[in-house]
Amino acid sequence: MTTQKLCVLGLGYIGLPTASTFANHGLEVVGMDTNSEIVSGLQNGKIHIFEPGLRSLVEKALTSGNLTISQAVQPADAFIIAVPTPFYEDKRADMRFVEAAAASIAPHLKRGNLVILESTSPPRTTVDILAPILERSGLKAGSDFYLAYSPERVLPGKILQELIENARVIGGIDSASAEAGRDLYLHFVKGEIILTDATTAEMVKLMENTSRDISIAIANEFCRLTDKFGIDVWEAIQIANRHPRVEILKPGVGVGGHCISVDPWFLVEAAPEKSKLILTARQVNDSQPEFVSQLIEKAACGLQDKKVAFLGLAFKPDVDDLRESPAVELAHLLQAKGALVKAYEPFKPEAHLPGIPHEKDLEKLLFDADLIVLAVGHQQFKALEAQDIAALTSAKIVFDAVNGWDKEEWEAAGFVYKGLGKK
Ligand SMILES: NC(=O)c1ccc[n+]([C@@H]2O[C@H](COP(=O)([O-])OP(=O)(O)OC[C@H]3O[C@@H](n4cnc5c(N)ncnc54)[C@H](O)[C@@H]3O)[C@@H](O)[C@H]2O)c1
Repeated sequence: MTTQKLCVLGLGYIGLPTASTFANHGLEVVGMDTNSEIVSGLQNGKIHIFEPGLRSLVEKALTSGNLTISQAVQPADAFIIAVPTPFYEDKRADMRFVEAAAASIAPHLKRGNLVILESTSPPRTTVDILAPILERSGLKAGSDFYLAYSPERVLPGKILQELIENARVIGGIDSASAEAGRDLYLHFVKGEIILTDATTAEMVKLMENTSRDISIAIANEFCRLTDKFGIDVWEAIQIANRHPRVEILKPGVGVGGHCISVDPWFLVEAAPEKSKLILTARQVNDSQPEFVSQLIEKAACGLQDKKVAFLGLAFKPDVDDLRESPAVELAHLLQAKGALVKAYEPFKPEAHLPGIPHEKDLEKLLFDADLIVLAVGHQQFKALEAQDIAALTSAKIVFDAVNGWDKEEWEAAGFVYKGLGKK
């Protein structure tokens, strides 16, 4: 199938790089989003998310004229849906964005078109949810239009590179749909393209993220055990990983973001009786901020009215994404224990999180603190020199939740150094 015009629905972390990359590879692309601020911002060259290299990629696509931004779906040969798939408070998948996106495509759908869902979704979404909504057009999935699921597997911070180089899975509702998807992504994908059916492709994505969640959960549980036995988890993991068939991940403040902390719930919801391990891992990772908050409380000999300089709110290092961030959860837990938390997040200096005061100036934040908590391992934080910080702050204790600082260096600078998993 030949695609000349593509409409990408959803211009977030996935949709915007995808639309821009297709445009820079010669396709006529309409990037569509329902959020009017995002649309008018992009139309005026304002890029609302941070991702290395994204600004110049989008600017090139817009300047070339190949990428236009719209708040309405437009007729095209192919449509890619890259809208959010969050969960409700009770952890059930919230598919309203996917449903709305499909409903907005239906009136424009023509014979021979291709629709691809990229949003991470529960098994059978493409067949059971997407196809019936698109068929309101009067056309039949498979015989009149192509329909496929292709999960996005990029790593935030490396999205532009991985979009092109990663292997891509394309699951069609039939083999012609999978092949039509392959023809589209061949415009820029250099990694292997693997064709399968739609439900297998959905399951592959969920299995990838779930297995990672479970691997992090065991690292977090090891961390609780080593704490009990008075040993350093980082040293123990490093030694264990010298075994040729062992690869333990790092413990941390918890698991966050729009993917790994969300996607395993889709499996738990779909088949609770068959996903006990997955549920337990989720519970371990979700309770990790509480475990870390208790360590901090102990390190500070109580938190009542202690001024905490809290470094980092993002869900992982060197990104600006605060969704489901365990660092945010940790900040709230410290507040609940009486601490006066003030945060600094260099990737989102304008962040307004309800209840968490925010400081744009790191020096100001450190000046009047009792305790420094390193909550996210941003490179900028890891590069801080203990001696320089000692000259700036009244704090005497640092708590390193990410193994980002050298204990001896901070102790030599006069601090009491405590950390997650440290002896
Ligand atoms: N961010 C990642 O690193 C990543 C990685 C792999 C997979 N995913 C998956 O990709 C999907 C998108 O994630 P994201 O991080 O890009 O989300 P995002 O929130 O950054 O962007 C989604 C965009 O979709 C827009 N939107 C909502 N409803 C819409 C509609 N009906 N029509 C058009 N636009 C609409 C929103 O306004 C938003 O701008 C999710 O399912 C996510 O799980 C994300």
